[in-house]
Amino acid sequence: MKKNMNRLDHYQKLDKSRLPYHVAIIMDGNGRWAQERNLPRSVGHRTGMESLRTVVKLCSQLGIKILTVYAFSTENWKRPQEEVSVLMGLLYEYIKKELDELNREQVQVRVIGRLKELPARAQQEIKRAVELTANNNKLIFNIALNYGGRAEIVDAVRKLASLAIEGKIDPEEITEELMQQYLYTADLPDPDLLIRPAGEKRISNFLLWQIAYTEFYFTEVYWPDFREEDFLKALDAYQNRKRRFGGL
Ligand code: IPE
Ligand code: IPE
Ligand code: MG
Repeated sequence: MKKNMNRLDHYQKLDKSRLPYHVAIIMDGNGRWAQERNLPRSVGHRTGMESLRTVVKLCSQLGIKILTVYAFSTENWKRPQEEVSVLMGLLYEYIKKELDELNREQVQVRVIGRLKELPARAQQEIKRAVELTANNNKLIFNIALNYGGRAEIVDAVRKLASLAIEGKIDPEEITEELMQQYLYTADLPDPDLLIRPAGEKRISNFLLWQIAYTEFYFTEVYWPDFREEDFLKALDAYQNRKRRFGGL
């Protein structure tokens, strides 16, 4: 009888020398997870925080250097005000509960997105987390909040256009490399692996510029059910890909 592979099997199968350097995750499916259990959507969001905790810890243990998670998109404001408040509240709670532990684990917290449009309290909490952990260097934990890939590109273009008007750059000098330096992720390499749980096969405005050559991994598992084993499966799938970057 064929036994399902467990966490340890997946772990042992991994080639630790060929792990992705930067992993990105679209944390999706919280609402459906809750609805299937006749629970309010907020319970799904709260349970999803546990998955996040698990994945951050695992990345740090495995030696993955960058984890970028999609927590709130520029389009998520379209949701009912009550749900938006729940999500912001969970952000405060997450920082409050996890910050000391993240700091102890040498995790550097960063945030990308249009932060000025977030509630004042969210901005303060983020500032606190970012400042406290700024010198940590084990794992860069990058949270995309009020993030949109198109907004990010527009913001970069605005800065470059201003520089051109001020005569500080010539439009001819604008290259892919220069553009990249004006993105929110300026000093980070592009993600090697992007994981989207919960069955949707789309990008939903996440990291549009950066995913040009990223490997995608989709799973039906809802984010609140996402465990170490699911992450290890994604890493295993990644290690079976042939990345060509347009070459042979
Ligand atoms: C992801 O779960 C959380 C955010 C988008 C903030 P969803 O709330 O999108 O869950 P589904 O997709 O409705 O199941
Ligand atoms: C993407 O999920 C945004 C986050 C996970 C934060 P959505 O649930 O907002 O995406 P769509 O609406 O299904 O495309
Ligand atoms: Mg969703």
